[in-house]
Amino acid sequence: MSTTISLDVERLRQDFPILAREVKPGVPLVYLDSTATSQKPRSVIRAMDDFYQRSNANIHRGIHTLAEESTAYYESAREKVAEFIHSPSARQIVFTRNTTESINLVSYAWGRKYLNPGDTVILTEMEHHSNLVPWQLLAAEKNLKLEFIPVTPDGLLDLEVYDSLLRLQPRLVAFTHMSNVLGTINPAKEIIRLAHDFGAITLIDGAQSVPHFSVNVQDIDADFLAFSAHKMCGPTGIGVLYGKRNLLEDMPPFMGGGDMIKRVHLHSFSPNELPHKFEAGTPAIAEAIGLGSAIDYLTSVGMDQIAEYEHQIIEYVLERLEEIPGVEVFGPPSKYKGGVASFTLKGVHPHDVSQILDSEGVAIRAGHHCAMPLHEKFNLPATARASFYLYNTFSEVDQLVNAIYKVKTIFRV
Ligand code: ALA
Repeated sequence: MSTTISLDVERLRQDFPILAREVKPGVPLVYLDSTATSQKPRSVIRAMDDFYQRSNANIHRGIHTLAEESTAYYESAREKVAEFIHSPSARQIVFTRNTTESINLVSYAWGRKYLNPGDTVILTEMEHHSNLVPWQLLAAEKNLKLEFIPVTPDGLLDLEVYDSLLRLQPRLVAFTHMSNVLGTINPAKEIIRLAHDFGAITLIDGAQSVPHFSVNVQDIDADFLAFSAHKMCGPTGIGVLYGKRNLLEDMPPFMGGGDMIKRVHLHSFSPNELPHKFEAGTPAIAEAIGLGSAIDYLTSVGMDQIAEYEHQIIEYVLERLEEIPGVEVFGPPSKYKGGVASFTLKGVHPHDVSQILDSEGVAIRAGHHCAMPLHEKFNLPATARASFYLYNTFSEVDQLVNAIYKVKTIFRV
């Protein structure tokens, strides 16, 4: 077991009430599914509860005390997001429902305006469905060409092929910052620099990166970045789209309704300023406040400390999993990887692995993880996936390994 632990994980675990529960009597929860959704610290739960108990009102509308308080809390959450990802301004932070909606917003509003028949969009073979299907829909409508940066057998993007694809003069390069299956952390800054050399706009799916390490949109020169609160200790129902100001200014609204307008006449309207232009209807107010609180929490722990700890834990996970006969782990070596380990156990379907692990209290995900093309590429119907966050311990890794040995005993493999 590693001795260089940089976080006081046992103390952090006290902040997450759910981690104290038992899945059934005498079987404590070992939560290894944070890639699907993270657990929430008490401070986030309390911030949302306090909002409903003390301040709840609609925002940007009333001029009574509660409405003004609610508006201030909502807009302060936006400021926190801007600071967290080093956005030059909070106006460039659009609240959406989740990463998926953020990407759909770009494909709908930017893509419909700026992409024309015959244009090329570059994606990668390791994308989540949410960064594939919106582009497939648009490609069918506008007759676009979709090209894919291949994944190498060891789970990295083939950047030589990327270089040759760029010669097709793509209009957009959209890629995941960190694979939710392989754990691969892609070199975003380099991918973006090359895209810009060829005049392409870039979109990063940051659903798995923003929660786990520090992302600086100005340093990597991101054009668009999409992510979700629920994977970073915040609530479900709220996500973020960051965009460069000129891009957001030039895009038409995504949805029509209240708050996204300046003036409305019977036959016309004028859109509101950024970011409200993209936030039609009453938004997820309590959830935005929860996201702000999650950012306070992650910042107080330290994003660099979280990243370093997860790196230590994934090294240990790979070392332990690789010593189990019949287990095959997919993805690159730990040097290129975040805290995600997708694996198969020879002779046992991943769903059965997951079910037996659950009986031991170990929660993992099994299936295609919303990345069917990547599984097809590796000729796998499904994988079992254990994923790790700041609150997981080395001893939970041992519990995972012991539970896999139990599966082997039951299935005699
Ligand atoms: N994208 C989430 C996952 O990978 C749901 O599980």
